Amino acid sequence: MDLMGKIALVTGGSRGIGRAIADALHAAGAGVAILDRDAERAPITAREIGDDVCAMIADVTNPDQVASALATVEETCGPIDILVNNAGVTKDGLLARMSSDDWDAVLDVNLKGAFLLTKAVARGMMKRRWGRIINISSVVGLMGNAGQANYAASKAGLIGFTKSVARELASRNVLVNAIAPGFIETDMTAALTEAQRDTLRAQIPLGRLGQGMDIARAVVFLASDHADYITGQVLVVDGGMVM
Ligand code: NAI
Repeated sequence: MDLMGKIALVTGGSRGIGRAIADALHAAGAGVAILDRDAERAPITAREIGDDVCAMIADVTNPDQVASALATVEETCGPIDILVNNAGVTKDGLLARMSSDDWDAVLDVNLKGAFLLTKAVARGMMKRRWGRIINISSVVGLMGNAGQANYAASKAGLIGFTKSVARELASRNVLVNAIAPGFIETDMTAALTEAQRDTLRAQIPLGRLGQGMDIARAVVFLASDHADYITGQVLVVDGGMVM
């Protein structure tokens, strides 16, 4: 799938799924910028992916930082054609013990961050009559998960956001989709014990946890012309766990 000539921005691209996405978009020929709040790791990851990959340091919850990072990307690389809202955090706990700070922190990054980035790039995409926005949700947004009321609400919210914006932007050929990954091996899931992994594997028909590249390939597909007639959808990439 050829993304030559397109410019992609991946939030949370310094590590994990975001890094795999940035790598795959770059391999497909796109110009890539990663935006991450991790000032140490972002430039290292960018260099490892390719000399032409830029790293922007910004917190997706901060409108001023987002605006200035996007302005820099557009000046140095060109207008953004593909936005991947991937930055996400967890602050797990049972409802009875969940603080409102933990609620706000998760909703702010996972949902408001996607809103700020999407709003900032949508106008240019609409003007140019081409754009792809891909939001990284989660199967937890479809199923719920005990101990993750804040995270599940943010990921379910992202699905409602995806469908609403898809309806608003479709007439300008700006396609907006979500991917719902299952359990993917990254720092976010590194804390799982071997016993927990075994329990998970038993629930996954394909018999393995996912890798970042499993999600990245789906992103490249949705960003490509092969997905020209797909908008407002949630693509579940989870080894068959939810069906
Ligand atoms: P990760 O924790 O390994 O990486 C997240 C990246 O986002 C980090 O580079 C971090 O610095 C960045 N980030 C966090 N908050 C930020 C902020 N406020 N501003 C800018 N950057 C920020 O996470 P992972 O596992 O790679 O997950 C990526 C996305 O995929 C997240 O949205 C996550 O919710 C989602 N996901 C992950 C699953 C998994 O099993 N790992 C399953 C389903 C969804």
